Amino acid sequence: MGKLSSLIRAVTGKKRFTSAIILAAGSGRRFSDDRAKQFELVGGESVLVRSARAFEECELISEIIVVTREADIDGCRNILAQKGITKVTRVVAGGDTRQQSAKNGFDAVNPESEFVAIHDAARCLVTPEMIEAAMESAFVHGAAACAAKATDTIKKTDGADNITETVDRENCWLVQTPQIFMADMYRAAAYMAVKDKIDATDDCALCERLGFKVKLVDCGKTNMKITYPEDIIIAEAILRYREAVK
Ligand code: CTP
Ligand code: MG
Repeated sequence: MGKLSSLIRAVTGKKRFTSAIILAAGSGRRFSDDRAKQFELVGGESVLVRSARAFEECELISEIIVVTREADIDGCRNILAQKGITKVTRVVAGGDTRQQSAKNGFDAVNPESEFVAIHDAARCLVTPEMIEAAMESAFVHGAAACAAKATDTIKKTDGADNITETVDRENCWLVQTPQIFMADMYRAAAYMAVKDKIDATDDCALCERLGFKVKLVDCGKTNMKITYPEDIIIAEAILRYREAVK
């Protein structure tokens, strides 16, 4: 357990109740027309089970909510139980967009939950250490997200692929998941997004637009997302690299 959490527990004698929401209800259009990327194998274990196992093994996570397509609910529940993932409390159906799926997951968390960690199942190389670092940061700042510093130079364009601006790379990040928020903050952000008809591709954006600050935690490039078929090969190479340097 991280230093801050140990300290808080020592002082208050209390462990915070926290929820991980794992989003696996997408259709993976960029991956394949007929294979669901969340159930593909990476190094012999499915993308979803790998993601869930990282949260299972992180001491700072109390429960796991899995969001999946309606037809996969029973299958997911069974496979996660078979694989020894014991923290799953609910498996619920997702929505048409990632944001709707996150909202469905959030509505299923334990009402006592103080922090929610929203994670893309497709980001299956996340480690318990990365989750812990982001959780610790969220405990201090109220909201935090895993990210990697940009290593390429970033250009902005005018919509017709003409460069209009070179962005200072020093302050550029590629945001990842988990993204972690105080439950009350996320409740307000999700509610306002519905009210204002906003649909964003990540959860930080919902909080940023209300003026909440979100701290980024550098998790490097290996917290990658499976998007295209070739990403499976890259993910397996990263797993071999992690084994080699252990
Ligand atoms: N997701 C979800 N519900 C949706 C859309 C996406 O739960 N309606 C999940 C995906 O399963 C994935 C994560 O959100 O784990 C990140 O989304 P992305 O990588 O874009 O996955 P897909 O939307 O499935 O893929 P694509 O955009 O290529 O169709
Ligand atoms: Mg998508």
